Amino acid sequence: MSKKKIAVLTSGGDAPGMNAAVRAVVRSAIAKGMDVYGVYRGYNGLLNGDVEQMNLRSVSDIIGNGGTMLYTARSEEFRTLEGQKKAAKHCNELGITGVVVIGGDGSFAGARALTNAGVNCIGVPGTIDNDIACSEYTIGFDTAMNTAIQMIDKIRDTAQSHDRCSVVEVMGRRCGDIALQVGIACGATAILVPEVNYDIEKDVIARIIDTQKTGKQHFVVIVAEGVGGVNDLAKYIERRLGIETRATILGHVQRGGSPTVRDRVVASMMGNRAVELLAQGLGNRVVAMRDGKIVDFDITEALDMPRVFDKELYEIAKTISI
Ligand code: F6P
Repeated sequence: MSKKKIAVLTSGGDAPGMNAAVRAVVRSAIAKGMDVYGVYRGYNGLLNGDVEQMNLRSVSDIIGNGGTMLYTARSEEFRTLEGQKKAAKHCNELGITGVVVIGGDGSFAGARALTNAGVNCIGVPGTIDNDIACSEYTIGFDTAMNTAIQMIDKIRDTAQSHDRCSVVEVMGRRCGDIALQVGIACGATAILVPEVNYDIEKDVIARIIDTQKTGKQHFVVIVAEGVGGVNDLAKYIERRLGIETRATILGHVQRGGSPTVRDRVVASMMGNRAVELLAQGLGNRVVAMRDGKIVDFDITEALDMPRVFDKELYEIAKTISI
């Protein structure tokens, strides 16, 4: 009997730990007697035939590397039905019956489309934003937060020396999880996230004044990318309170770097689960973490789930960051 053939690709924004997930997929598949292929540059690789068979050594020495050895891309062609059919046809020609897609929810919608076109796909949540509703954790989140906090600790040093306020934008276009957790970890006087409406006077200015009254003379305000406007906010704080204020946008530095232990381990567990599902002949599923355990959901069910922002943690931040 011919060997089962599966493939793995990374899609959307890269995230530290994607390599660890690729490694887990390749090695778990080989352990189960399958042939495994790496697809380069996301779904584009399936369209262009940019696909290569992997062996145990193909994924040596990558677990500690940031980025993704398979490269990544957002594919316009694959968004079309024609593109999806073409990708499925290329899979059929190679005998590939399953694909592990490591990425965010846009990539999962692609995985559902490819499953509908006849190739079983399993999604693995890889994005620094932690914005996949069905999973309490996404690969790359921990590393991105640790990178951000290292930078913010340095910003704090200079803010403190000058008795200044620093307004820092962290990543998260639709999701405030990085801002919230980093804000707690650096004792931010105010944290602004896209999930919670804010009033600049009450949620920023009044909080700085209250903190000032306790004797503190330097302040850090953390703003999620989805809220934006850090330069204007810095100017406003300076004008309104007479405190010298600087704005910093951390940007893509948060996407790179060697993954933390947590990201390497979660990626390894999720990659392994994805292969188990394909081995059972399943497709259209997303691997997720719930209560610290690896689980999986139907992709449509997963994409329809509403994201829940941790308001309790947000309130704790307000209480203790004074
Ligand atoms: O990976 C998620 C994310 O970092 C978002 O927070 C951000 O908005 C986006 O990707 C930016 O991605 P790019 O610059 O690659 O388009």
